[in-house]
Amino acid sequence: MNKPEIYSFDDNPSVARAFAECMQAWLAKRFSANIALSGGSTPNLLFRELAKHYKSKIDWTQVRLFWVDERCVPPDDEQSNYGTARALLLDHIGIPETHIHRMRGEAEPEAEVERYSGLLTKHLHLDQGIPVFDLILLGMGSDGHTASIFPDQMDLLESAEICTVATHPESGQRRITLTGKTLNRARHVSFLVTGASKAEKVGEVLGEGKAGANRYPAGHIHPHGRLTWWIDKAAGAALDPKLIRTGRLAI
Ligand code: 6PG
Repeated sequence: MNKPEIYSFDDNPSVARAFAECMQAWLAKRFSANIALSGGSTPNLLFRELAKHYKSKIDWTQVRLFWVDERCVPPDDEQSNYGTARALLLDHIGIPETHIHRMRGEAEPEAEVERYSGLLTKHLHLDQGIPVFDLILLGMGSDGHTASIFPDQMDLLESAEICTVATHPESGQRRITLTGKTLNRARHVSFLVTGASKAEKVGEVLGEGKAGANRYPAGHIHPHGRLTWWIDKAAGAALDPKLIRTGRLAI
């Protein structure tokens, strides 16, 4: 199990700029990449940065985009992770529409789990039947959830399914989410986590020897490949500075 590589920056815009730059360099060395995107607000600055500065710097015909999770709402709903990515990124980079594989939030959840699992099995390399993403972008909620795996549904980390239906613990909103098994098969998982509201959980999840990590879904993400955390100073306020990498970044 690879130890997390933790990189810290001044603020969310700096995280977005650094990650976009590294993503471009990483893609320049590849012929193709299957990438899964998370939702929430953190990735929005990254999406804007990629849309504004990387339309021609990245060969988007090499990239296939998937989703880590999706709220069970129509794609034009303001809560739709796909809808947000469409508005901030997908409409601005010239990626082929056939390379965009959204989770259908408007569909019956169980049927969509079936369909999306089949789609992943068809498009991605399989390791013991589990689809292998080249890169998965994750966020973390202030409760330590990641994807749509919440602390009261830790069993989804070990689910035998590739993706499954989850339920938001407060709103009751149903979600489609990749399971822990799929997340942990990735060649590279990058967490982008910013803001003071995440500091306590970042300290628990990444703090060496901290008992808290296992209490939260984000603490159970240890991919077969690399694990990088991209945080800002506010999110890293409770973290031992010795754990933070300095020097050259690379994904
Ligand atoms: C979602 C995300 C979720 C998100 C965290 C962090 O659908 O909401 O996939 O896992 O990454 O909730 O959200 P913020 O970036 O808004 O803090």
